[in-house]
Amino acid sequence: MSAEAEAYLRIAGHRRLTGEIRVNGAKNAALPCLAAALLSDEPSRITRVPDIEDVHRLIEILKTLGVEAEFHGNEVVVRPSGVCGGSPPDDLAASLRASFLVMGPLLARTGEASCGAPGGDVIGARPLDVHLAGFRAFGAQVDSVGGRTIAHAPRGLRGATIVLDYPSVLGTENLLLAAVLANGRTRIVNAAMEPEIGCLADMLNAMGARISGAGHHTITVDGVERLSGVVHELIPDRIETGTLLIAAAATRGDVCLTGVSPRHLEALLSKLAEIGIDVQRGDGELWLSVDSEAELTATNVQALPYPGFATDLQAPITALLTGASGISMVHERVFENRMQHLNELRKLGANIVAGGSVSAINGPAALSGAVVRGTDIRATAALIVAAVAAEEGESRVYGMRHLARGYADLPAQLAALGADIERV
Ligand code: EPU
Repeated sequence: MSAEAEAYLRIAGHRRLTGEIRVNGAKNAALPCLAAALLSDEPSRITRVPDIEDVHRLIEILKTLGVEAEFHGNEVVVRPSGVCGGSPPDDLAASLRASFLVMGPLLARTGEASCGAPGGDVIGARPLDVHLAGFRAFGAQVDSVGGRTIAHAPRGLRGATIVLDYPSVLGTENLLLAAVLANGRTRIVNAAMEPEIGCLADMLNAMGARISGAGHHTITVDGVERLSGVVHELIPDRIETGTLLIAAAATRGDVCLTGVSPRHLEALLSKLAEIGIDVQRGDGELWLSVDSEAELTATNVQALPYPGFATDLQAPITALLTGASGISMVHERVFENRMQHLNELRKLGANIVAGGSVSAINGPAALSGAVVRGTDIRATAALIVAAVAAEEGESRVYGMRHLARGYADLPAQLAALGADIERV
């Protein structure tokens, strides 16, 4: 596609964001919860679903497996009675990471599952060993052939104690999805503790599963024979919330975010406090009001598994730190190649030195408009934040197909808060 034909955002900087926004439901909760609906014969309704590409793609995948699914007004109704196994088409599997989440439910329900290599953001190696070792521990035979995973468990899955080599988010979710229908007790040790896992466990328990400990290092699951349908509301998107808070801070704004879970954002709120931004909390609300002349202070950030600082906010906070006085060090410790926004931030005027997964940001830099390209969902969001906060000039931000995968309406939300931003 030529650059001329490709959509981009035209953004004029130097606007102070002000106003109130309600955040969407969580992308990374929507995906496992859609997969969970596969575990029952009965229909499920999932509410507060963000209208993003990854959700549409996963719904497409469910349809290829014999599921009926409709997405209307932030609700998805899934009718899984026709599920008979099968495998997602390779091109759809390759279009998002969460396509691999059909493995756990299909294996548990039908005794066999297969999936081509899952795709998603190109931010590091992203192996599947945690998922595969877990399926094997349940007694499944698992083979990887040319990037395709094929698993069989003709006599069903049996509960097991599984110690994860790494607290993988999708790995924990896939094993949870398999364990709920396995025979006997499963313990997932060194489980990921992200809030989206709690959201998935809540949905599964409401379907009749017996899960305890979700959100902690060890999750215990007592397998049940069948699960029923459910109506389940997703948790608020903590990464969208964080991105909007960071954008508000970068423009020295006055913004209130509603429908949020402040307790899911402790690491970000503590970093914002170190930078000099006081975020007030209410019941399901966060608001910040920064003096338009306020000077921000540099700080250090390490991206880690939850409850550490979210890797998905590493790029956005880097954009904010370009405007803080002093040297900030940012260390990405979850993915080995998630620093691709740095070159683009430099085009906007940021002063950053980087090596491997560590960057040193020397601020404050006066950013000015430039033509930049996001290479993954959160890198694109970071460039949008930087362009909105730039002191002068217009930017063109490319990478809309990445943005659409993970943010339902970030440009519209920023425009509603007063940013000068339009899709061209
Ligand atoms: N890893 C392994 N083995 C595995 C799986 C992962 O070594 O079997 C390693 C990865 O290589 C990586 C680290 O573990 O270095 C973290 O990967 P994880 O599996 O936890 O990530 P994920 O489950 O693939 C989810 C989110 C990501 C988010 C990460 C970390 C979804 C659909 N995706 O990915 O979200 O960055 O957890 O929090 O839930 C995004 O929303 O933009 C996004 C990329």
